[in-house]
Amino acid sequence: MPLPTFRTVQEMRDQVAAWRLDGLRVGVVFTMGNLHEGHIALVEAALKKTDRVITTIFVNPTQFGEGEDLDSYPRTHEKDTDMVAAAGGHAMFVPSVSEMYPEGFSTRVIVDGLTDVLCGAARPGHFDGVAQIVTKLLNQAQADETFFGEKDWQQLAVVKRLARDLDIPTVINGVPIVRDDYGLALSSRNGYLSEEEIEIARKLNVILKKAAYDIGTGGFTADACEKAAEAILKAGFEKVDYVECRDADTLELVEKSEGRSCRIFGAAHLGRARLIDNHLVN
Ligand code: PAJ
Repeated sequence: MPLPTFRTVQEMRDQVAAWRLDGLRVGVVFTMGNLHEGHIALVEAALKKTDRVITTIFVNPTQFGEGEDLDSYPRTHEKDTDMVAAAGGHAMFVPSVSEMYPEGFSTRVIVDGLTDVLCGAARPGHFDGVAQIVTKLLNQAQADETFFGEKDWQQLAVVKRLARDLDIPTVINGVPIVRDDYGLALSSRNGYLSEEEIEIARKLNVILKKAAYDIGTGGFTADACEKAAEAILKAGFEKVDYVECRDADTLELVEKSEGRSCRIFGAAHLGRARLIDNHLVN
């Protein structure tokens, strides 16, 4: 049976309300489509914790900057729906831009501090768009649980903060990064890379892991990050946006790990893609 696809907020809410009346717990997974195993891991995590899982596909225009890939972002709804169905998901929510941003829409959601650093510094306004759409999606679905990938660690931190600050009752869960056999974090944008570029891309996680080890064994973060940035360029990336070691929750810069829960974050450009990754510093 094909998966039910809701196009309007009301249709989705009616279904969620009906499930609730039956005593079922509801999970939601938010995506921009062009799904891969990383997204499916979120659906699987949701299926473990809830009874009914809705997967949304919406390429959110407000989180793309000028000159970014909004228009060319791959739209593969049919294949995506088949993948979600195969994983055991129960429904899709695929709204139009006008359903999400009707005429006269004028509300913004700004999460101070967390959004100025890392990808927020490299992509000004990006997290304002993310915070705006995620707040809407959370309110629209009113689900019990939602699931975000740790690949986008900063996004997860921003969403946890806004849900806490705005008293959104949905539980925000993080799901570990899904990687290929060589450790490259899966990403919809990896599809922009040639085979040679994929070989280069696979070095990003190796370099960051090595830096995480150096920091975890007592090194200064600035030294390890500088070395890692040089190695990334040497590996063939065209530009490094950042390599930084930061507190896992507050995203404050960390000088030495010294038992703190921190992570190393990296972002670099290769061909048409901008790749990001992060690792725990033990
Ligand atoms: P998108 O890039 O499609 O990612 C949707 C979700 O899948 C995010 O939570 C992301 O962290 C997760 N994800 C992507 N690749 C992953 C991987 N390799 N391992 C684990 N999880 C992975 O992130 C967005 O869309 C948008 O910003 C969105 C939250 C939908 C708001 O528009």
